[in-house]
Amino acid sequence: MPFKNISACVFDAYGTLLDINSAAASCNDELGEKAGPLAEMWRAKQLQYTWLRSLMGKHTDFREVTESSLDFTLKALEISDSGLRARLLDFFKILTPFDEVKPMLEELGRAGIKTAILSNGSPEMLKSATTSAGIDGLLDMVLSVEEVGVYKPSPKVYQLAVDRLGIAAKNICFVSANGWDAAGASAFGFQVAWINRAGQVPEQLPFKPVVELKDLSGLTELVA
Ligand code: 2OP
Repeated sequence: MPFKNISACVFDAYGTLLDINSAAASCNDELGEKAGPLAEMWRAKQLQYTWLRSLMGKHTDFREVTESSLDFTLKALEISDSGLRARLLDFFKILTPFDEVKPMLEELGRAGIKTAILSNGSPEMLKSATTSAGIDGLLDMVLSVEEVGVYKPSPKVYQLAVDRLGIAAKNICFVSANGWDAAGASAFGFQVAWINRAGQVPEQLPFKPVVELKDLSGLTELVA
């Protein structure tokens, strides 16, 4: 068994449990060949702004960061449709879960493993996204970085999961599709599963996951 003595699985939200590309994909028709570049640039800029604000010590919530990164992207791609902007932001609130997510969360529950989200998302964003995805009832806890006022991969964020669950880091399996987040969680002391959905190159950092998986379907048998 690659994981040892796991009492809880703590999940990143966007890109791990929730398919963020479904936001831009819903506007594919009006975006045409700009759909791909928009989704990619928006996500990259959204994360950049979280890291910049954390390093500057100038925190604002993920709703604001999501809006300002979309504004950058729309200007960069020379799109000035305010209706499209509103629709893209609305879709971020109603993301679809990846197919294997619900069965996996149910399996973990049956195995007596606690489950939580630990996300950059604001409490309101996470409430609406988990409810519309139909997974809110399958999670013991939903934690937002808003409780600590700084973004991942700050150790303060990962510590929040330890404090709220009352479970030591060594007994928590942290699960993320974002390589940088997986590295941050490993550096903090979690046992980490990196869900490499897009077949990305591993981060060249000395903080490694215990396992690299293509999706979440095989997770339960590895931790329970
Ligand atoms: C999260 O959900 C940003 O995907 C990252 O915290």
